[in-house]
Amino acid sequence: MYLITLDSETDFDGWRKAARALALHQVAPADVTWGVQGQMQDRMPLGLSEAPSLPPIETETTFSVPANFIELARIAILHRDNERFALLYRVLWRLKADHDLLETMADPDVAQAAAMAGSVQRDAQRMRDIVRFREIGREQKAHYAAWFEPEHHIVAFTAPFFARRFADMPWSILTPDICAHWDGHAISFTPGISRTETPAPGRLEETWRRHFQPDRMPTPEAPRTFPRNLQEASILGPLLADAERWTGGRISPRPEVPMKRKTAANDLETLREEAAHCRACHLYKDATQTVFGEGPTSANIMLVGEQPGDKEDLAGHPFVGPAGQMLNRALEEAGVDRKKVYVTNAVKHFKFVPRGKIRLHQKPATPEIRACRQWYEREVSAIQPDLIVAMGATAAQSVFGKITPIGKNRGRLIDLPDGRKALVTVHPSYLLRLPDPKAKMLEYQRFVEDMKIAAGLQKKAARAA
Ligand code: URA
Repeated sequence: MYLITLDSETDFDGWRKAARALALHQVAPADVTWGVQGQMQDRMPLGLSEAPSLPPIETETTFSVPANFIELARIAILHRDNERFALLYRVLWRLKADHDLLETMADPDVAQAAAMAGSVQRDAQRMRDIVRFREIGREQKAHYAAWFEPEHHIVAFTAPFFARRFADMPWSILTPDICAHWDGHAISFTPGISRTETPAPGRLEETWRRHFQPDRMPTPEAPRTFPRNLQEASILGPLLADAERWTGGRISPRPEVPMKRKTAANDLETLREEAAHCRACHLYKDATQTVFGEGPTSANIMLVGEQPGDKEDLAGHPFVGPAGQMLNRALEEAGVDRKKVYVTNAVKHFKFVPRGKIRLHQKPATPEIRACRQWYEREVSAIQPDLIVAMGATAAQSVFGKITPIGKNRGRLIDLPDGRKALVTVHPSYLLRLPDPKAKMLEYQRFVEDMKIAAGLQKKAARAA
């Protein structure tokens, strides 16, 4: 009997190396016990205290397995079932004799491995969908934290997605298995937080402080640090491509740019309802209400402004005041049908300072833009627009996830990482504020020219429909 101790629950490289050596030495699956460092005691067969070691392998000796088995194993190994290491070795062992084994979906081992991979994928998708960050420690440097209870060992696998998505905000995802942290440059991991400490609703900050005072946030000495560009997709991509095959169509992992979903209208209504109670930053305290985006779910263009103004705050609808009128005029002149676009703002609450009877508009600060970005992202995923038009600096910061100068970027289509296009232009309020009539007219014309790019796309989409 051979005893294989892996370094961690997700030690794919360790498993792969050991499995290869075992298979080359003709060690049958029944003769191997697999486990993880620190947890082997209860898994050791009676009477076995020391495992025999495998003789060295001749370097030339090798065998090949289908590449998609490796991708399957990479994902399935993240399953919480302790039997996964043995199961995957059994499949590998059988692949030596039957290279096409994976084609046989009715085979119990293949079906079980595929089901495990599917379950891991769904759990990773659930994490991507439901993790919501809350601002923590506002009086110090802003930090964002979220609590999540994964079903499988997916935190390290999914963390790069959050690093890309929330690239410019430092965050921590606390889980009972492992905590992931992003400081804007690298992902690091610290041990998990016991389930008995699951933060009660609204008590996340307390738990976070108990474990990670700002001055104790993991730094380079943290146990495992991954660079900024670690790509989950490198693991995910091939598996997604093969997913249907692996599972006989039983799982449907969502691609990075999902197809238009039939449930978009419901999603949007749920979002609107949730956003109505948003407390992610302090702006809700003085605003009348959350002003959420509006427009058809079939819209292929999304217009993003800065934040509701005085009129919008009272009416509860975006772009209905003077800036809205300016926008309507320009859209009409450019040939964009406003009824067919989705109109929203980067920040959903009106920020102002009272001056007598007037409420003076204040530009939203970066923490407010960040706190609100989750709504913008969820609107994008409900609407699935082809083109996102960022009007003004605040919108551009939200759309690109970082400060993006208007002058350098305006008037041309820019590729977003998720495959959509973005168009940067000025905010209609900027046009309203220009004191010189000639400059105002010229700037307005430029704005209309920018909107003509959106009009072209709208017409093309209409022709294709
Ligand atoms: N300015 C914006 O950015 N959005 C509105 O809804 C109104 C004015």
